[in-house]
Amino acid sequence: MLAGVLTETLSGERRVALVPAVLPALAKVGVSVLVQSGAGASAGIPDAAYVEKGAEIAASAEDVVSRADLLLRVRLSPPSTAAGQQDLALTRSGQTLIAFLDPLNDQSLSEALASRGVTAFSMELMPRITRAQSMDALSSMATIAGYKAVLLAANTLPRMFPMLTTAAGTITPARVFVIGAGVAGLQAISTARRLGAPVEAYDVRPAAKEQVQSVGAKFVELPLEAADAEDKGGYAKAQDESFYRRQREVMTKVVATSDVVITTAAIPGKRSPVLITKEMVAGMAPGSVIVDLAAERGGNCELTKADETVVSGGVTIFGPTNLPSTVPYHASQMYAKNVTTFVTHLMKDQQLVVSLDDEITRETLVTRDGQVVHERLKPLVGK
Ligand SMILES: NC(=O)c1ccc[n+]([C@@H]2O[C@H](COP(=O)([O-])OP(=O)(O)OC[C@H]3O[C@@H](n4cnc5c(N)ncnc54)[C@H](O)[C@@H]3O)[C@@H](O)[C@H]2O)c1
Repeated sequence: MLAGVLTETLSGERRVALVPAVLPALAKVGVSVLVQSGAGASAGIPDAAYVEKGAEIAASAEDVVSRADLLLRVRLSPPSTAAGQQDLALTRSGQTLIAFLDPLNDQSLSEALASRGVTAFSMELMPRITRAQSMDALSSMATIAGYKAVLLAANTLPRMFPMLTTAAGTITPARVFVIGAGVAGLQAISTARRLGAPVEAYDVRPAAKEQVQSVGAKFVELPLEAADAEDKGGYAKAQDESFYRRQREVMTKVVATSDVVITTAAIPGKRSPVLITKEMVAGMAPGSVIVDLAAERGGNCELTKADETVVSGGVTIFGPTNLPSTVPYHASQMYAKNVTTFVTHLMKDQQLVVSLDDEITRETLVTRDGQVVHERLKPLVGK
């Protein structure tokens, strides 16, 4: 069984799907690896490091695709773009593909892969069960995004994060407010705490309170009752608009007194709720910073523009959609480990086996035999 690794094509993408350290684990289950020359360069990994761990290097992407049974990618470009068309051309019928395919937001890639006869697995759909924890690439990437969001804010804020007592007087610390205490939010809290800032946080899921406190932040008690806040996978459920209106009202004061607000409130497969209006931004002190990690799906701040920096009334609003790629070495290391564990899970007696009896396989399988086969996606096909 030959697994191919290509140079990522999405604009600004610096991650690579496999790092040399995982190659021995793949070899153990009968998977050898063919890497496009230079695929790891933007993550700081030279071809020689792959060769040292037993990989073969191919001169071109076409070489990799023509020989590999299994393609391991981080992301593919949207089929509506030239890079996306090139990505699709770099697949062939009968091949298996594992990557982030974003199928809940945009089905066009899944449909295109189905029509090319590719068997595709989407890493976003990994079920949140204990058995699959080491394959949970979304959580890996969220960890990095939460960390980097704080650094972005610290780098822009015209203040320091820690309280300092100096000969020139006392420096008051920056106040940080984190909205959404999932994986990214908790990492943002920890990082801001390490930099010395007092942190407050809020989440609709009641279970988040204890987790927020355990990483050193104060949980903001809001007079809100979220109906049925959590689904069985641990994700937040969408609330109705009257809930979000009330949430904005009761959060206005906390936002106004914060120097940094990091928003991570996402609902899988849905547009992110607007939790900070432009009026709330106007109520913040000039120089304050918002980092909106929900920007990819509309953002939690009304003024957010994906991958742009907006300055309004002296408040800077960042809407980065790919922070993990800005830490490409560790992001690739984590992704490679998650993908390798998944491939190892699929391999039986040196063969890749697609068994729908297995929950991990069934929940991540998007296309097979020319069809989009995932139950959650079937109703969305062609829409
Ligand atoms: N294998 C596992 O069991 C596993 C793996 C990863 C995460 N988890 C858990 O799943 C949960 C969700 O994590 P995630 O990071 O993937 O979430 P996510 O990225 O889907 O959302 C981020 C956070 O925003 C919160 N949120 C949504 N709407 C909000 C609102 N209106 N106001 C405030 N907060 C709001 C969510 O509750 C969530 O905590 C966490 O409890 C996490 O620990 C479990």
